[in-house]
Amino acid sequence: MKKIIITGGAGFIGSHVVRRFVKSYPEYSIINLDKLTYAGNLANLKDIENAPNYKFVKGDIVDLKFIQQLFADEQPDAVIHLAAESHVDRSITNPVEFVMTNVVGTVNLLNAARESWKGEYDKKRFYHVSTDEVYGTLGDDGMFTEETAYDPHSPYSASKASSDHFVRAYYDTYGMDTVISNCSNNYGSFHFPEKLIPLAIHNIQQSKPVPVYGKGENIRDWLWVEDHARAIDLIFHKAATGTTYNIGGHNEWKNIDLIKTLCTIMDKKLGREAGESAKLITFVTDRAGHDLRYAIDATKLKNELGWVPSITFEEGLEKTVDWYLANEEWLSDVTSGHYQQYYTDQYNNR
Ligand code: NAD
Ligand code: TYD
Repeated sequence: MKKIIITGGAGFIGSHVVRRFVKSYPEYSIINLDKLTYAGNLANLKDIENAPNYKFVKGDIVDLKFIQQLFADEQPDAVIHLAAESHVDRSITNPVEFVMTNVVGTVNLLNAARESWKGEYDKKRFYHVSTDEVYGTLGDDGMFTEETAYDPHSPYSASKASSDHFVRAYYDTYGMDTVISNCSNNYGSFHFPEKLIPLAIHNIQQSKPVPVYGKGENIRDWLWVEDHARAIDLIFHKAATGTTYNIGGHNEWKNIDLIKTLCTIMDKKLGREAGESAKLITFVTDRAGHDLRYAIDATKLKNELGWVPSITFEEGLEKTVDWYLANEEWLSDVTSGHYQQYYTDQYNNR
């Protein structure tokens, strides 16, 4: 039986990847390794927590001894690595935490895998899930391809770029079977409400201000999280060793246009008068070093592995809004305590 450690499986994207693998591959044994930071929540996986091929292990990838012991005990065949500090604003406030988890944590996993696999990489694989933010920012034209030079600007993207380089170094230096994918902004269920789309849905629902950084002219390329999980599944199983794939939905939106669209959807869903939710839009001080535009060219993934997004943005956004409105308990759980305090501090400092 193939044993796979999926790190960060209690987070947003990780929980969708864990669910997909547990359900699609009963012949695999899936270990979800997660520290359960503010962003990790086992409630995201309630529907599969008792599956016979699933196990949760609480642990910190920064703790090398713990990671080495886990590899010695479990003898995994593969790692799908998603654990990370993932929020750009938090990286501006606390860059060191990002270096620890995203860089040191990744190298710890690579090293534990190298020791465990002892240079025998046949039927072994280390898959690193990364971001398009490593490529930096675009002007009005062009798209990121797999050949675009790395040019990260935020502490978050710098830490992810560094971890990508380490993964490639393990391929080049030790011959480890590695694969990397760089994906655009995700949205969907179980998304922590500090990121733009879930934060906006949450605030509109509660009739609170919706903060838009600067003039709202920055552009992001949005992909439904379940399409990302499907791409990861495909790349994990089909990609050649040492390769990289960009993942994206060819779906660019200016932040302000996206928020206005969400306001229109929410007016309808909440039975509000047209234009009511848009009154909540509040322009706030811009993010430091704010990248202007991201856009992914996912041609390689389409041509080589046949992946295309399964749903339109309109369908995905509607599904996402419906999910948040139906899961108020999940939202109130994750917006209590520590996170609530952080958010209040951040917002007051703007
Ligand atoms: P998330 O913040 O929702 O989840 C991260 C998970 O990692 C949490 O469950 C957290 O508890 C866990 N974690 C954090 N530090 C840890 C540590 N030291 N040890 C063990 N576990 C730890 O993040 P996400 O949005 O699901 O992103 C997952 C991955 O995908 C990240 O590597 C991120 O860089 C990448 N990515 C995200 C996006 C996006 O739009 N969210 C896009 C492209 C790539
Ligand atoms: P975010 O969801 O934090 O993702 P990322 O920074 O990784 O792209 O932000 C998406 C875009 O929305 C980005 O341009 C910053 C902007 N933004 C706001 O305007 N207001 C907000 O409250 C947040 C969280 C983000």
